[in-house]
Amino acid sequence: QKAVTIPALNARKAAGDKITMLTCYDASFASLMDRCGVEVLLIGDSLGMVCNGLDSTLPVTLDEVAYHTKAVARGNKSALVLADMPFGTYANPQQAFDNAVKLMQAGAHMVKIEGGAWLADTVKFLTERSVPVCAHLGLTPQSVHQLGGYKVQGKTTESADLLKADALKLQAAGAAMVVLEAIPTQLGKEVTELLTMPTIGIGAGPDCSGQVLVMHDLLGVFPGRKARFVKNFMDGQTSIDAAVSAYVAAVKDGSFPAQEHCF
Ligand code: KIV
Ligand code: NA
Repeated sequence: QKAVTIPALNARKAAGDKITMLTCYDASFASLMDRCGVEVLLIGDSLGMVCNGLDSTLPVTLDEVAYHTKAVARGNKSALVLADMPFGTYANPQQAFDNAVKLMQAGAHMVKIEGGAWLADTVKFLTERSVPVCAHLGLTPQSVHQLGGYKVQGKTTESADLLKADALKLQAAGAAMVVLEAIPTQLGKEVTELLTMPTIGIGAGPDCSGQVLVMHDLLGVFPGRKARFVKNFMDGQTSIDAAVSAYVAAVKDGSFPAQEHCF
C-alpha cells in the first residue's frame, strides 16, 4: 500500500471509506499487517496484558512501548505507526512532550493519550511541536480503577454530552484522530458526524470512520475474558494472512462490527 498519512486518513473519512487499524507489537506482524493493507498499526499499552500477562495496562512503561515501537517500525513499510503513551507519562504538557519525543524517535508517527478536556492543553502543546496526537475517549483502560471496571461508557445523556464536548475540545486543540472505546452505537455515530477528524471505534458501532481490534483477539489467542466487541477472524481461515485480510475486508465493506459486537 501507499504510505498512510494524516491527510490520507482525513480524505478517507471525507470519502466515507473505512479506516483499518490493528494493534501490533513486533516486526514480523508489522510486516504481515502492512502487506495485508492495515492502515494504522497501534503499539497499544494493551501489550502489558496480551504480551506480558498483566491484569491491567497501568504497569506498562514508556521504555516498553518504545521497545515494541522500534520493532514495529522496522517491520513496517507504509502503515501509520501510532504509539500509546503509558499511564502517568502525560500528566502535564511538558512531561507529555518529553515522553512523546522518545516514542517518535522510536519510530511512531503519532501518539495516543487517554482522556477528555483536561488534555486539551497537552494536545495543543504536542501538536504545535510537531507531535500528532490521537485522543481516546469512552472506556479508557488506564482509568479502570476510577471507572470501577471495564464498563460501557456514555450511556446516560449527561455522559454522552460530556463525551461530545470533550471530543470537540480535543479536535479544536489539534487532535488528528480519536479512538472511541465501548460506547453505544448511536453515540459513536453522533460523535463521528460531529467531528471532522476520523473516529476509530472499538465497541463503538459501525458508523465510526474506522475500527481497531487487539491482534490477539482477532487471532483468538488471548486467554482472558472476551469483550462483546471482539471477533475471532481466524474462524474459517487457514492462515494469519487470511484472517488479517478478512478483518480488513470486513471493516471496509461494513460487515464488521455487526450488531452482536455493539452496545
Ligand atoms: O492499548 C490498546 O490496545 C488500545 C486499543 C484497544 C485502542 O488502546
Ligand atoms: Na491503549
